[in-house]
Amino acid sequence: MRKGAALVLFPFWVVVIFICCMQLQAGDGKVLQRVPCYFIFGDSLADNGNNNFLSTIAKVNHRPYGIDFPSGPTGRFCNGRTTVDIIAELMGFNNYIPPFATTKGRKILSGVNYASGSAGILNETGQHLGGHISMDGQLKNHQITISRMAKILGTNRSAAAKYLNKCLYHVGMGSNDFINNYFQPKYYPTSRRYTPEQYAKVLAVQYFKQLKTLYSYGARKIALFGVGPIGCAPNSLSLHGATNGSTCVDPMNNAAQIFNENLKLIVNRLNKTKTDADFVYVDGMGHAAEALSYGFKVLDAGCCQVGSSGQCIPFKTPCQNRSEYVFWDAFHPTEAVNRITARLSYNVVFPSKTDLHRDHRDHGSHPIEL
Ligand SMILES: *[C@@H]1O[C@H](CO)[C@@H](O)[C@H](O)[C@H]1NC(C)=O
Ligand SMILES: *[C@@H]1O[C@H](CO)[C@@H](O)[C@H](O)[C@H]1NC(C)=O
Ligand SMILES: *[C@@H]1O[C@H](CO)[C@@H](O)[C@H](O)[C@H]1NC(C)=O
Ligand SMILES: *[C@@H]1O[C@H](CO)[C@@H](O)[C@H](O)[C@H]1NC(C)=O
Ligand SMILES: *[C@@H]1O[C@H](CO)[C@@H](O)[C@H](O)[C@H]1NC(C)=O
Repeated sequence: MRKGAALVLFPFWVVVIFICCMQLQAGDGKVLQRVPCYFIFGDSLADNGNNNFLSTIAKVNHRPYGIDFPSGPTGRFCNGRTTVDIIAELMGFNNYIPPFATTKGRKILSGVNYASGSAGILNETGQHLGGHISMDGQLKNHQITISRMAKILGTNRSAAAKYLNKCLYHVGMGSNDFINNYFQPKYYPTSRRYTPEQYAKVLAVQYFKQLKTLYSYGARKIALFGVGPIGCAPNSLSLHGATNGSTCVDPMNNAAQIFNENLKLIVNRLNKTKTDADFVYVDGMGHAAEALSYGFKVLDAGCCQVGSSGQCIPFKTPCQNRSEYVFWDAFHPTEAVNRITARLSYNVVFPSKTDLHRDHRDHGSHPIEL
């Protein structure tokens, strides 16, 4: 990533101007940091090492994971950068956001990544795979970060509170509540207990509470990522088989869509009631579809050879032409796909001036019972 050393050469007042105008373009056309801090809540799509210290199958701190990442395997479920890494690059950060599990000291001022593979909105989601940090657990870890931050910024808590208002909060939850809960009837009763519509409501009620908690901790710019086309993942295809006349497991994608519709309603409702905050819905399903139009060659198989967990078999050599593959393993997209979806997400979270007049609130016309 970019080096910040050039700043040292400028006189102090230039630095002050730079800091005050962080949202503007630098003289050389580079975008200076959009926000001072980036906090990430999510699952394996964003995990960058939090699961390394847990007893779980959902842990990938070994080759071939990280084969295209500068420092090698880190615990990212990808060959290279995840979407949150790329969004951090696009926002002008000089470093990727570090995992909560290993981050101490002033580094937390630029944000922390709480994401945990196999985790979901519901506590029990993913438990058949082992340890994980669910959304409730991630919020608890965020409270710990806030106390640490208050100590760093001085005993005056309002300094930390003001700082926390300026960060971007990235929240991408829900995929595992389907993949590692509802569509695993062997381990979880949810699909016998609820229709997809009822289950989406159960998730929405819990998620709504969690997001209000995040707001109460000072979050004011929150990007909420909808669930992607989980039914098209190679693991879904091998577990459930493609639906007749489709290349994907349609019941999984349909359930995800129902969840996403509920999520849109939540986002609109929060954005309307918390008038000092900006809640943005990011259409993961649509972005994945758009990525497919870029001409990837292999859509239905991962680049690496996977074991029964759907993760790459440790130390096996993966495919050479990774940018031709949509999937890296049986669940997770390649960095090539992440580059496209991250750019699309970034443009939604930070719309260019011409997009500012677009109103996304029309989704909110149906009231939701929460
Ligand atoms: C989930 O677990 C946490 C402990 O990690 C607990 O505080 C919380 O109440 C639980 N949530 C639900 C909905 O049971
Ligand atoms: C905290 O600091 C701010 C200035 O940064 C000041 O306005 C405020 O009065 C302080 N609050 C307390 C409780 O000391
Ligand atoms: C799937 O398609 C085949 C051939 O078109 C048909 O024979 C079969 O009945 C279909 N199965 C279902 C479950 O619709
Ligand atoms: C690249 O991927 C294609 C599949 O699209 C495969 O058939 C081919 O053998 C691969 N080429 C190399 C050099 O790995
Ligand atoms: C959210 O609300 C703000 C005003 O508080 C508005 O400017 C913005 O367009 C809304 N965003 C969405 C996605 O509705």
